[in-house]
Amino acid sequence: MSQPARTDEELLRMLTGYMPAFLISAAMRLELFAAFGADALTTEEAARRTSTHAPSLLRVLRGLAALDLFTEESPGTFRVTERGRLLLPDTPGSMHALAAVVLDESMWGGWPSLEHAVKSGKPAFDHAFGTDYMSYTGWADGSELREHVDRLMLDETRPVAAVLVESFDFSRFSTLVDIGGGSGPLTAAVLAANPHLHAVLYDLADGVRQAPRVLADAGVEQRCELRVGDFFASVPEGDLHMCKSVLFNWADDDQVSAILGNSRRSLARDGRLLLVEHMLPDVVDGSMPWDQYVSDVNSVVSLGGRLRTESEYRALLTEAGFDLVVHRLPTVPSGYSLLEAVPI
Ligand SMILES: C[S@@+](CC[C@H](N)C(=O)[O-])C[C@H]1O[C@@H](n2cnc3c(N)ncnc32)[C@H](O)[C@@H]1O
Repeated sequence: MSQPARTDEELLRMLTGYMPAFLISAAMRLELFAAFGADALTTEEAARRTSTHAPSLLRVLRGLAALDLFTEESPGTFRVTERGRLLLPDTPGSMHALAAVVLDESMWGGWPSLEHAVKSGKPAFDHAFGTDYMSYTGWADGSELREHVDRLMLDETRPVAAVLVESFDFSRFSTLVDIGGGSGPLTAAVLAANPHLHAVLYDLADGVRQAPRVLADAGVEQRCELRVGDFFASVPEGDLHMCKSVLFNWADDDQVSAILGNSRRSLARDGRLLLVEHMLPDVVDGSMPWDQYVSDVNSVVSLGGRLRTESEYRALLTEAGFDLVVHRLPTVPSGYSLLEAVPI
């Protein structure tokens, strides 16, 4: 007797995953969420406000209602839901910056060339766009996309920083150096919770553009020096070095070793280097959500860099002159680990 046909619902969703993503992208580009605001609108009124074709818009709105981004209050009349409001920039907990970054062509346009990347070992992005991600996006010069990326980093780091300040004893340290600290949300949180500490926020010139505002908002700007520099050349002296979401940017182990080596050379003898990174288990055992692995493949596609396992971090740290103590940060939604590196 033949087996009944089996539909794997999760697989089905994976196969069609790009469709809701593009549906949301279109809604954002049409500024549908803003056009509705808090109102319930008929499709005709929404079409008027967004200069769109009402019969097509009705089907888009129904699709968005099925995704719980709108609710259909009566046939053809819709209102934005709580989830939909997360796609507006000023909602508390907004995911607008994330959506703007991942739905930008620079993020998904390399994916159709993944096969080429796997065969050639070269970024899919470069094959698809004829140039690299940083040049294409005008990264260092600043752009709307770069502003969204900086905002996204802030949104992502703030909750991690809140957990970190509760998870580590900062009392015996005096000078924190935030290596590749970007806009400074981690430094801001640690300084705010530890009034005895001073900090150096160390990054490239384009990396610290938002930092004066972030540090001032936290009321810690008097205790933080902004220092522009290249962590491949040197790292400022201190007794507590911190480095979050930096090492994964570099696929080449030699580059990671250079950053770790520079930290080791300028770190006080009894100091600590704290790394905050996503760390993969040595085998795929379900302890890490699938999106971490898929985002690691996104690094193959466009951004470069790679996630590493605990063994890989241990080897790199040992070579740089550190022992490793791993602290899991279980309450951080995005699954970060805290790696405490102790000078040997
Ligand atoms: C993914 S961001 C992480 C920012 C911050 N640590 C956080 O978690 O919010 C990586 C940072 O590394 C900085 N960076 C990249 N190359 C650098 C270099 N050669 N020297 C110093 N900073 C660098 C970038 O400007 C960026 O701010």
